[in-house]
Amino acid sequence: MNSQNNLSVLVTGGAGCIGSELVKELMKKFHVTVLDNFSSGKSEHIEEFMGNPSFTLIEGDVLDKDVLDTATKGKDIVFHLAANPDIKFIPGERTDKDLEQNTIATYRVLDAMQKNNVRKIVFSSSSVVYGKAGKMPTPEDYGPLKPTSLYGASKVACEGLISAYSSMFGMKGWIFRFANIVGDKSRKKGRTVISDFIYKLRQNPSELEILGDGKQSKSYMLVDDCVSGILFALEHAHDDVNIFNLSTTDAITVDRIAEIVTEEMGLTPEIKYTGNSGGWPGDITRFLLDTAKLKKLGWATRYTSEEAVRTAAERMLDRKTQSV
Ligand SMILES: NC(=O)c1ccc[n+]([C@@H]2O[C@H](COP(=O)([O-])OP(=O)(O)OC[C@H]3O[C@@H](n4cnc5c(N)ncnc54)[C@H](O)[C@@H]3O)[C@@H](O)[C@H]2O)c1
Repeated sequence: MNSQNNLSVLVTGGAGCIGSELVKELMKKFHVTVLDNFSSGKSEHIEEFMGNPSFTLIEGDVLDKDVLDTATKGKDIVFHLAANPDIKFIPGERTDKDLEQNTIATYRVLDAMQKNNVRKIVFSSSSVVYGKAGKMPTPEDYGPLKPTSLYGASKVACEGLISAYSSMFGMKGWIFRFANIVGDKSRKKGRTVISDFIYKLRQNPSELEILGDGKQSKSYMLVDDCVSGILFALEHAHDDVNIFNLSTTDAITVDRIAEIVTEEMGLTPEIKYTGNSGGWPGDITRFLLDTAKLKKLGWATRYTSEEAVRTAAERMLDRKTQSV
C-alpha cells in the first residue's frame, strides 16, 4: 500500500478471523475504526490495538442505522466484512438469517456511506456465489450465478447492491470472492474442517468422523495471503466495480486434510464417513477458481492449499486452546 497516513478507514467485522488480520495491516498506514457486535468475533483478536491513538472500536450492530451513521462519517474507505459467516444451514433454523445479516446489513452500510459521501467499499464475497459451476477453474465472468445456499444467494445480492450503488451514486467497489480462508483464529469448534477435526480428535483420539465421503475437493487460502491480495487489488484495480476471485490455484480433498491434521497431532485414528457426498445441504463439493485476473495485475499467492491447511493446523494447535 502507498503511505496514506491521513486516511481513515472503517472495518465492519474487524474483530473476526479475517477482519482482525486485515486491521493489523491497515494500522500500518491508516486510522482504523472497527465496528463489530462480537457475535462471532472476539475482543482478544483486537486487544493489541486498544489504546493506540490510530484505533477506534465501536461496539455495535451493522443493522443499526444510527451506529452506522456515526461509524461511516469522515471515512475514506469501508471494508465491509461483518456477516453471518456460517454457510451451513441446519434444517429447522430460520431461513432469513443470511438475508438480514448479509444482504440487509450490506444495504444499510451502502446507504450510510452514500449519505456520508464515502466513496469506496471493499467487500468479502464468496466462491459459493457460483454454485455448482459448469466451468472449472471458474473465472470471475462465469454466469449465470446460481448459488445453492441461502448464504451464497445473500452474497450475490450484496454484490448486486454494490454494483447498483456504484452506478447510481458514483461509488467504487472491490468485491472479493474468497475460497475457504484459514488461519489460527478460525479455530473455533466447527468453524472450519480443520478446527472440526482438531476438536473431534481431542474428544476421541482413536476415531475421526468425516462429514460426507471425504472426496470433497476445495481450495484453501491462508489468511495472510487473503489480506495481501485484498490490499494489492485495492491499490492496483481501478474500475468502478472490481471483482476478483481470491483463492489458491489448487484444491485439496477432505481426506487429505484429515491426514494432515492427524499427522500434526501425531495420531492414527480410525476414519468413519457419514456417507453422503456433501457435508451439509447446499454444500459445493468441488470447486476451483480461476485467479488469472489478479495474477495479471502482478499478485500471486504464497501458499498452496495444502500448505495453507498445514500452516493453519500448526497455528491452531500451537495456541493449545480448549476452544477448538
Ligand atoms: N472464512 C472464510 O472462509 C470465508 C469465505 C468466504 C467469505 N467469507 C466472508 O468473509 C467475512 C469475514 O469472515 P470471517 O471468516 O472472518 O468470519 P468471522 O465470524 O470471524 O467475522 C465476522 C465478524 O463480523 C462480526 N459481525 C457479524 N454480524 C455482525 C453485525 N450484524 N454487526 C456487527 N458485527 C457483526 C462478528 O462478530 C465477527 O467479528 C464474512 O463476510 C464472510 O462471509 C469468509
